[in-house]
Formats: sequence, structure tokens, C-alpha cells
Amino acid sequence: MSVLVVGSVNVDITVRASAIPAPGETVLGPAAQVSPGGKGANQAVAAGLAGAPTALCGAVGADAFQEVALRGLRRAGVALSDLHRLAEATGLALITVDPHGENAITVASGANAAVGPDHLPSTLAGISHLLLQQELPEAVTLAAAQQGRAARVRVVLNAAPARVHADLLPLVHHLVVNEHELEAMAGPGEHAAQAARLLARGPEVVTVTLGARGHLTVTGSQTLTFPALAVPVVDTTGAGDTFCGVMTARLALGEPLDRALRAAGVAAALTCTRPGAQDAMPDWAEVQAHLA
Ligand code: RIB
Ligand code: NA
Repeated sequence: MSVLVVGSVNVDITVRASAIPAPGETVLGPAAQVSPGGKGANQAVAAGLAGAPTALCGAVGADAFQEVALRGLRRAGVALSDLHRLAEATGLALITVDPHGENAITVASGANAAVGPDHLPSTLAGISHLLLQQELPEAVTLAAAQQGRAARVRVVLNAAPARVHADLLPLVHHLVVNEHELEAMAGPGEHAAQAARLLARGPEVVTVTLGARGHLTVTGSQTLTFPALAVPVVDTTGAGDTFCGVMTARLALGEPLDRALRAAGVAAALTCTRPGAQDAMPDWAEVQAHLA
């Protein structure tokens, strides 16, 4: 079955600098890289590369940046019939990457902020999994989740950036968060206990991505933990998006949860070995080679 991502589309302008600047500080780096990004588009590309028929609902501007923004989606074969061209500027992300591959991101939402519930597809026929993040207006994400629930579609939410509308969590089947998002949503504690607290608020499955320490998933009956694939880290941008896209794609293709999670973790690690987000994502053959 297939995946619908409702989410943001950006162009990423990335500078590799000696450090992430502190307030008031200026840091220097060589030439900027301009590449396709946005959490929604990144996750759609990852899902498409992992082999699931995938569509993206969102928006770009009617400007020159849209060509860069759509490049990765087109290459991954993502269906774009619900991708709108609005009068606002294409979303832009200003990214600084430090020598350890860690990043700081500022997003100018542009057209993403002008997406409304009216832009959602009129039907979810043929969709088995809806994949959401939090870079679109809350009203759209909420309406999409409600539409998904009504159509008996699995609703997967990557609560990034951290901030969850109280009405959203009960509509989510599978929640994916990183450590910071987990802390913001569940308060302090040990990861499995924090995740279990979120289970009580709606989701059947909670997955926590832990960077170089792998990932952990809690359901009502089991806890699954996976170490990270050891890789040389160049740029972690898009790693979380790769995880969400690949996991959702493999679940949509009928794979059991543990196998989908393992593939997602491997793909996310591979994304860290190359610069950029979509440009760094592995194809399925590369993921499989590391799973064997
Ligand atoms: O998750 C990484 C993404 O966050 C980047 O591609 C950037 O566009 C921001 O949306
Ligand atoms: Na990367």
C-alpha cells in the first residue's frame, strides 16, 4: 500500500563552519551548498527510495527556488499532484553544520505557512500510511490526522520541531521523536519510561531516535532497542527524516515492525555519511547491503 506525506518543502542553504555561532557571534565557512530539503519533502524522498509508492501534499512558491526544492522528489518518483504552487516564497532553511556534523537550522517557512486544510487531498483512497511532521501550520496537520483516522489510515507523526497540539496525540498511531522532543513532551526520566508515558496519551507505538546511540521503540507489549550502525559522521541533516520515511515505507510495504525499524536506523546512519539531506539519502540497495 502507499504512503502520503503531508509536510514542508524547503531549499536548504548549508554552510559548513568551524562552530555553530553563539548569539552575537559570526562564524565563517567556505561556499554554501544549495540543496533540496524540508522535513516533509525529505521524508517523502526517503519513503520513495525505500520502495513504497509515495505522494507529497504541501506547497512551494512560484519562484526559482521551487526547481531545487522539487529535484529530489522527482528523482525519487514521489507523486506531486497535491503539491501546490502558492504566491509566497518557497520555504528556505539556513543551516550551519559544525565539524562534528551537528547542525543548527533556521527555517523561513514561506509557502509552507500558507498551506491550509483546503489543500489536503479530497480522498485518501489507496493510502495505507499518512506521515506527518510539524513544519506546516498546526491546523493542517490536525485536519490531515483527522482525515486519516476517518479513512482508517495509519497515522505516523514525527513531532519535529517539538510542540504538539493537545488534540493531535490521540489521533496518532505511531509517534517518532528524538531525545529533545521526548523530553519536551514527556518530562525528564529514563527513555523507555518517558516513551511509555506518551503511550498513555494516544499512540500505540512510540519510537525514540537517539543519534549515535541508536533507537528504541515501545509498544503496549514490548520494548525494541537497536544500536546505531557505526559510521563516519559528516552531516546529520536529514537523518531523522530518513528514519521516519524509511520506517513508514517499509511498514506500508507490509514489513513487520522490527524489520522496518532496523532498516530505518541503517538508512538514517548512511544519511549522516554524506553532506545534505535528500542528496545524502541511500537507495534501497545500499540499505539492504548493510542489513545483510
Ligand atoms: O530535518 C531537516 C530539515 O529541516 C532540513 O532539510 C530543513 O529544510 C528543515 O526543514
Ligand atoms: Na546528511
